[in-house]
Amino acid sequence: MNDLSRAINEQRAALEGAWSRVLDSSYVVMGPEHAAFEAELAALVGATDAVAVASGTDALELMLRATMPGGRDVVVTAANAGGYTTTAARRGGFTVRYVDVDAQTHLVDPDALLKVLDERVGVVVVTHLYGRAADVAAVRAVCEPRGIRVVEDCAQAIGARTDEGPVGSRADAAAFSFYPTKNLGALGDGGAVTTSSEEIAARLRALRQYGWDAKYRIGVDGGRNSRLDEAQAAVLRTRMPLLSAQNEARRGIIQRYAAVGASGVRVLPAEGAGHVGHLAVVVADDRARLREHLESHLIRTDVHYPVPDHLQDAFRDEYADVSLPVTASLADRILTLPCFAEMTPDEVDRVCGALASY
Ligand SMILES: Cc1ncc(COP(=O)(O)O)c(C=O)c1O
Repeated sequence: MNDLSRAINEQRAALEGAWSRVLDSSYVVMGPEHAAFEAELAALVGATDAVAVASGTDALELMLRATMPGGRDVVVTAANAGGYTTTAARRGGFTVRYVDVDAQTHLVDPDALLKVLDERVGVVVVTHLYGRAADVAAVRAVCEPRGIRVVEDCAQAIGARTDEGPVGSRADAAAFSFYPTKNLGALGDGGAVTTSSEEIAARLRALRQYGWDAKYRIGVDGGRNSRLDEAQAAVLRTRMPLLSAQNEARRGIIQRYAAVGASGVRVLPAEGAGHVGHLAVVVADDRARLREHLESHLIRTDVHYPVPDHLQDAFRDEYADVSLPVTASLADRILTLPCFAEMTPDEVDRVCGALASY
């Protein structure tokens, strides 16, 4: 599904240069690389501030804590995005409510959203799933008149842009993950939140470091230690200039799969700057048969994601009365094909050939 060694080998000299800069400076957390990375990320997404943290899940949790309006406690999200928002919201002490997704885009359905909003809902999380920029404006139009904040989960969509601007700048705040297989991946864990609100940025900076608003002074309750290492910041700075070309390569791979297609299989399209090709997902009438066919051609597949959040064993009892028919039906039919920027043309051809012979 992925081969991290290829990017590491191609970028070896630059990555060694980045490590060396860190060793030379002797700053290991929150030093010059970290500061420069935050500034570069904010510029990339068109936000005034970026606050780096230790992982994407931490970014989601701290973002929810920093944006939840007083007196409210419910986070609304789709249930098909791998459980990260659910984990983060529950860790933040919030109640999670789910909304169904659109059958074509697999993204939050603004019409379905209307049915789950009430005065307890404080934040709606819009996930740009598989690399596709969601319609944040439509969600804001529903939420803002009700005093509900909208935030983005950009973990799978860094670099995606629409007519309204890049993802990460279109809501109150946005979370990013730099897990190694992400389009912009670290050599370890990392995450960040972007925002153009000074107040939210200040809360995030306090929350990521014990709640401090000044050294050894806890001004914000609910803080933790979630810092991005200087070494990871240096790696991310080395890789950020490559992002746009790599996104283009990923998109191109998905477009090849879509052009070939297969009977009983719908390849989710990845066209234009609004999609960064994070995952090549297809919807198959008979997933097990497609998977077996691809495996017989030595092509690995995966499922993103097999169990919707509200059906996860750890808390399914709480959601016994929740029905998300589109989410549930897609979970049984989706399949992810290999897609990463360093795939060779031969490998892409092999996947296309296997699809064609299905
Ligand atoms: C959509 C989405 N949100 C959040 C995360 C969480 O990021 P992390 O693994 O860095 O905690 C991920 C990836 O892992 C993700 O794909």
